Amino acid sequence: MIHLTTNVDDQIVLKVVNSLCDVLKISLPQAADEFGDYMNNVYLQKFYKIFYKKANSAKEFLLKMDSVHVAMTNDLPDAKPPRFEYEWKNDKTLIMKYKSSRGLIDFMVGLTKGVGKFYKENIKVTKLGNDKVEIVFP
Ligand code: HEM
Repeated sequence: MIHLTTNVDDQIVLKVVNSLCDVLKISLPQAADEFGDYMNNVYLQKFYKIFYKKANSAKEFLLKMDSVHVAMTNDLPDAKPPRFEYEWKNDKTLIMKYKSSRGLIDFMVGLTKGVGKFYKENIKVTKLGNDKVEIVFP
């Protein structure tokens, strides 16, 4: 999500985030929710508004996230974009499988909640483990 032109070591980023949580006395999921809100509703609106304009709902937007991450990191030599697989449990319930070596599932949850807020939809986002998120659309 970062306006990336260079690669930053994953372990260093995680250490900084964890220290920040200690100092602020908040949990990692709380920090990730704030981050997801800020990214979708402030930061990405400055640089990547077009992606939000091209989708009319949270569902449409989320279903594009796998190809968007691949496309966005095509010309970053060391990038390892997260990949997403989609599976419908029923007509309102989507399982998004998160495939990444980084283990940032809490951020995936926070970012997904932020998408719901952007589209003003009351979606329910639940972590189902370290590689799966369930999203219930209204
Ligand atoms: C237009 C919106 C978005 C853009 C342009 C974007 C772009 C990016 C880019 C360039 C990276 C860095 C990849 C790398 O270094 O390999 C990244 C990381 C990430 N993105 Fe997004 N992103 C967007 C929205 C989202 C949303 C809505 C989600 C959640 C469903 C999400 C989940 C993640 C996660 C979890 C990472 C961390 C890397 C990892 O887990 O391996 N992003 N994104």
